[in-house]
Amino acid sequence: MKLIITEDSPGVLTATYIKERIKAFNPTPKKPFVLALPTGGTAVDMYSHLVSLYKSGAVSFDNVITFNLDEYVNFDTNNPQSYKSYMYTNFFSKVSFNPDNINIPNGNAKDMSQTAMAYEEKIKSLGGIELLIGGVGTNGHIAFNEPNSPINSRTRVIDLAEKTLRDNSKFFNNDINAVPKQAITMGLATISDAREVIIMATGQNKAEAVWRAIEGPKDIHWPITILQSHQNAYLVADKAASSEVSKKAATCGVCSFDPIK
Ligand code: GLP
Repeated sequence: MKLIITEDSPGVLTATYIKERIKAFNPTPKKPFVLALPTGGTAVDMYSHLVSLYKSGAVSFDNVITFNLDEYVNFDTNNPQSYKSYMYTNFFSKVSFNPDNINIPNGNAKDMSQTAMAYEEKIKSLGGIELLIGGVGTNGHIAFNEPNSPINSRTRVIDLAEKTLRDNSKFFNNDINAVPKQAITMGLATISDAREVIIMATGQNKAEAVWRAIEGPKDIHWPITILQSHQNAYLVADKAASSEVSKKAATCGVCSFDPIK
């Protein structure tokens, strides 16, 4: 996994890259661009920059199919904190996007394991994920794959870690009891199968996860470390998030993406 340290916002850099990748791919109805998308505070910047790029005519989302990484379980999707609401508020309502091309895991389905399996099947039927964008939890989770998630895991329901509940309570008036306790998430194998992965990290509270991802051993207690063996994975971090990484390891410095062809 390559580390890209940016003085700019990781979200802005990532949005620019998404635009370039979509353009270079030149998607058509027969060959859509399959993009996996995150939620979370770090990604807000990315969406606002993507919206600006769209408004300036630099990118079109015709023939782009999205799959969200995760969603809370047993949680009203009309609640502004649901990931579905987040996606419409920050992105889908601000750009032209075919609603049939939007996929967000259903956390309120009667049969959750069937829903999870169908999500995987749909990704597979479209030829897999071309580009997956994610954030990272302070405990190293990616999507909602908490510590000890199996490396061969697929989309499933998971109990959220205490640390994640505490972190995400910032979106629930700091009331940890208001945070849903479960989520449906793509698995580590789903993420690893994506042809290209970009993880964004901002702020000092992500510094340990970034350090472990770049310099630590592969460790199931820190799920992000599984991306060390991915051929096309990038971690885009700001100065604070990369502050624990040694100078030697941060060889990339302010280097940029080397897109897959
Ligand atoms: C949430 C999401 C993750 C996200 C992470 C980071 O729990 N499920 O997909 O990457 O936390 O969030 P933030 O950017 O708010 O720190």
